[in-house]
Order: sequence, then C-alpha cells, then structure tokens
Amino acid sequence: MDFSITRIARTVLHVTDLDVSRKYYVDGLGLIETESDENHIYLRGLEEHSHHSLVLKKGDKPVVEALGYKVDKEEDLEKLEELFKSEGLKTKWIPKGEQHAMGRALRVTDIHGIPLEFFAEMDTVERMLQRYDLYRGAKIQRIDHVNCAVPDVQKAYDFYVNKLGFRCSEYTDTSDGDLWAAWLYRKPTVHDQAFMSGPGPRLHHFAFSLTDRLSLLDCCDVLASMGYADSIERGPGRHGLSNAFFLYLRDPDGHRIELYTGDYLTIDSDMKPKRWDLDDPLRQTFWGHEAPDRWFNEASTFIDIETGKEIEYVEPKLTQRKPVIAN
Ligand SMILES: [Fe+2]
Repeated sequence: MDFSITRIARTVLHVTDLDVSRKYYVDGLGLIETESDENHIYLRGLEEHSHHSLVLKKGDKPVVEALGYKVDKEEDLEKLEELFKSEGLKTKWIPKGEQHAMGRALRVTDIHGIPLEFFAEMDTVERMLQRYDLYRGAKIQRIDHVNCAVPDVQKAYDFYVNKLGFRCSEYTDTSDGDLWAAWLYRKPTVHDQAFMSGPGPRLHHFAFSLTDRLSLLDCCDVLASMGYADSIERGPGRHGLSNAFFLYLRDPDGHRIELYTGDYLTIDSDMKPKRWDLDDPLRQTFWGHEAPDRWFNEASTFIDIETGKEIEYVEPKLTQRKPVIAN
C-alpha cells in the first residue's frame, strides 16, 4: 500500500458534563488539560508533544464520535479516501481549522461502521515528561490503543491487515479455528487496535500507557480518596495476552478506560503472531481471576460520521459460549 498509518492518536468522546469529566480525568487520572472551551476539553499525557490525545465534547449522550489515527504524510489522506471509496465506505473531509488544533481530517467508516479519522497534522505543545512537579494520579504518559467489539473479527482482521497495513501480534481462535479476537498494530507495540467478538460495532475501551505498575496502584488510591472507588471496574491484574499490567475504569459517563503498562516491542518483521485458545483462562488474566459481567456486556456506542446518529450494533457471527474479551 502506498500510504502509512503511524499510530492511534486520539479518541473523540461525548460526555454529558464537562466539569464532572474534568475532575475525573485531570484531578483523578492526572491527564494534562492542554486547552478547553465551553464545549470541549483537550487532554494529553505527560510525554505527548501533540496538542491532545483525548477530546471530551459536551453532548446529550455519552457516545464515541471518532477514533483518530495519525498518518505519515498529508498525501496519505487522499490515498486513504480513494481506498475507502473503492470499498464503498463513507468518507467525509473536515477542513483544517474546523477542529481545534487540527489540520484537515478525513473521517470514514470502516468495514463494520466504526467512525475512524485520519490526519497528518496536529498542533504541538510542550512535552511535560520531565515536569515531575505536574505528575499526579496515574501519571499517564500517552495514548496506547483502542479495543472494539465487532460481530465479525475475521472481516475486521482482513480489512485492517490487507487493506490498511496493520500487523498482528496476538490472536485468539476457537477450537474450530475461527478467529475470535485479534491484536493489531502500526506502532511497534502489541497493538493500536484490538478487535474481539461481541455485539458491535462498539468501543469496548481506550487505553493509556503508564511508565510502571506503581503508578497504576497510586491511581487506585487517588480515585478511592476522591470518592471514585466505584469507577474501578476490573483489576489491577496481569493480562496473558500482551503481558501488560492493567486496570479498567469507567468514567463518570460510563466510557471504559484501561491503564496499561508492560507490553513488548513488535518491530521485528519476522516476529510471529502468538496464538491463544479461547478456552485458555490465562489469556484474559494471567493470574486466573475472572472479570465482572458488566466488563463483558457493556461498551460505548459509536455515532455516524454524517448523521451523528447512534450506530446500531448487531450480534456476533460466532456463537458465544461465554462473552470473551481480553485486554
Ligand atoms: Fe486494552
């Protein structure tokens, strides 16, 4: 392919009360507030030089507007437009400046209707990596990945790998050989984008990378002290898949966040994808403990790039013995 997607770069979420969200994300989790206005808060991690990696937009309902990928060059956007059009998928340009701190952006829907966004340009700001005086909460460093529930993981895998140039680090299949979940990457870590079988398309979670496990535990203490103990949904724990140490949280609107640290490099071109059996209990949690039901059943709804209406989700193609979603 003659374009290059660099990495997952931002998530655009709708939240119902910006002040309530600010308290959670900034005071609780420790994200840096780059800027805000009456309808938006732009947040970034301590090592990020990009203006933001999370946009909280005031809305009536807590939905997901877009998953944003950075591309290498401006010309890549035309090539992506051509690809998505040739697949019969929706495309829409957002001119430079229409979104704060952003160059022009190409919004598209993927093979399942997930609203993706591609852009080459975002304003840059001061990197806070060595502003240790600003470290708090989970000391979040950067965006790491997004994970979506889709009804047909094989279809998503084929599109992202064969058409968009993603590579696979790990995957889960059933004893019949059906692909159940896949961890796909562009940056050289375990993933930028995960897919798992489930009613979808829906955003199961988006994840931030931390420097270490202690930061994750510190965050639990801070959240509990602030009265947010109920927002801790699953973990802390160690994933089998990806090897990462994890914690899952629900923000005040119910969007799921993962704090994540300790996966591995995937840059070698001869690295083989690691297979997991759907029945292997160590896949989800290396220590063997189970996730709560709501972690399996609840996820955030996407909205359409043109109408703004909620995208209805459909049941998965594969029969569910038990809903299985991992990291
Ligand atoms: Fe994850």
